Amino acid sequence: MSSLVAVLLEKIESRRARTGVVGLGYVGLPLAVELAKAGFHATGIDLDARKVKTIDEGRSYIPDVATSDVKALRDSGTLDATTDFGVVAELDTINICVPTPLRKTRDPDMSYIVSAVESIATHLHPGLLVCLESTTYPGTTEEVVQPILEATGLKAGRDFFLAFSPERVDPGNPTFQTHNVPKVVGGLTPACVELASALYGSAIETIVPVSSTRVAEMVKLLENTFRAVNIGLVNELALMCDRMTIDVWEVVDAAKTKPFGFMAFYPGPGLGGHCIPIDPFYLSWKAKQSGFDPRFIELAGHINAGMPHYVVDKIAEALNTKRKPINGSKVLIAGVAYKRDIDDMRESPALDVMGLLHARGAQVSYVDPHVPEVHSREWSGRFDIKAVTVGRGSFGQYDCIVVISDHKLFEYDAMVAEADLIVDTRNAIKKPARNVFKLGAPRPEVETVGKV
Ligand SMILES: NC(=O)c1ccc[n+]([C@@H]2O[C@H](COP(=O)([O-])OP(=O)(O)OC[C@H]3O[C@@H](n4cnc5c(N)ncnc54)[C@H](O)[C@@H]3O)[C@@H](O)[C@H]2O)c1
Repeated sequence: MSSLVAVLLEKIESRRARTGVVGLGYVGLPLAVELAKAGFHATGIDLDARKVKTIDEGRSYIPDVATSDVKALRDSGTLDATTDFGVVAELDTINICVPTPLRKTRDPDMSYIVSAVESIATHLHPGLLVCLESTTYPGTTEEVVQPILEATGLKAGRDFFLAFSPERVDPGNPTFQTHNVPKVVGGLTPACVELASALYGSAIETIVPVSSTRVAEMVKLLENTFRAVNIGLVNELALMCDRMTIDVWEVVDAAKTKPFGFMAFYPGPGLGGHCIPIDPFYLSWKAKQSGFDPRFIELAGHINAGMPHYVVDKIAEALNTKRKPINGSKVLIAGVAYKRDIDDMRESPALDVMGLLHARGAQVSYVDPHVPEVHSREWSGRFDIKAVTVGRGSFGQYDCIVVISDHKLFEYDAMVAEADLIVDTRNAIKKPARNVFKLGAPRPEVETVGKV
């Protein structure tokens, strides 16, 4: 074992290693907090000065991270944050958790990773362990990160250490959080994987070492492609059930009683979040470079991207029973976050549904206890829109209410009692009602106004 490896291993085991996390978002802040809780000194680096200031003030801005934890760690001096990459010179380990979005052309946007790694390279020093966590295509660590760092003259695996470990955080999940979700780790060399496993093993219960960074990168894309494809399958089944007047929700619930060989996925208004709508296209882009055409990914993407249009058709169908057009109707979107009980609306299908309704002349408003405002740049309506306050006693003012995120805080019983029409895309309303139209289910038994 080289002396650099032995020294770093000892520092990790004794918790004397100074750890750093680049990118303090949904992934990075929980990781920095776990490292600090494990006994390390953790420094977060983010270009967003507001996030750094909030941590400095001992507060959290990520719902899954308690402000009391940030405050206690801040007060004890084990957690701090900065916008200055100069601190890398003092660190022993650094984890990179920056965004990996898609460009408009559906190509990977590597600019955040490249920029973060270039900033680290400026302060790279012998003995530093660099772990990439951002979800990305297989080959990124070796083809993008390693050359930037080695341009300094230091060699990966000999002078500094390089690993990839995908993040699997599930925002809003009270059972599984950073510390108890098994962590897959791939290193450039056996020493790299040993050091990265030692670091993560100090803060996370189960470590799963794999043979290379490429395998670790592919593991994450398999997991998210698996979800995207299965959601695509069940969304197609929902469209089929709609045509065949069968309730897809009842079908899935009965199918999931099979104790083996089946896993329940549910249909919905479309994919959302920073992962499932995006990550499979990282894989598809890379596979195409090897001359391989990944058909499942493209097909699932096609079906899932069509769901907001289907939801708007459903709204038109519901309004039609009252002889109302979309044009001029007051439509309330219930929930703009991409899933239940969270505040994240990145890629949310609610934004697509709102845009499509607005383009057809609907008066669109939304209610969401977790998202106070949708900014003009975030949806195709191109104007800022604030959440309305609506609840028991005031649901009757809309022509149609569309449940997009089934937040627990919504008063569904009052909604059903008071609303004229509801389009429920999440099966949030279990009891059949004459005014509730469900995605992937037969329409309610209603007398169409004006029918002769
Ligand atoms: N959010 C999730 O549920 C989730 C789950 C698993 C994996 N991931 C992956 O983790 C990565 C990060 O996702 P996230 O949701 O935490 O993103 P995020 O947008 O919440 O946070 C990213 C942070 O990085 C900062 N940043 C961007 N460029 C930077 C730079 N050059 N230097 C320093 N800071 C920089 C941003 O200011 C932001 O605070 C992505 O690759 C994502 O696919 C996310």
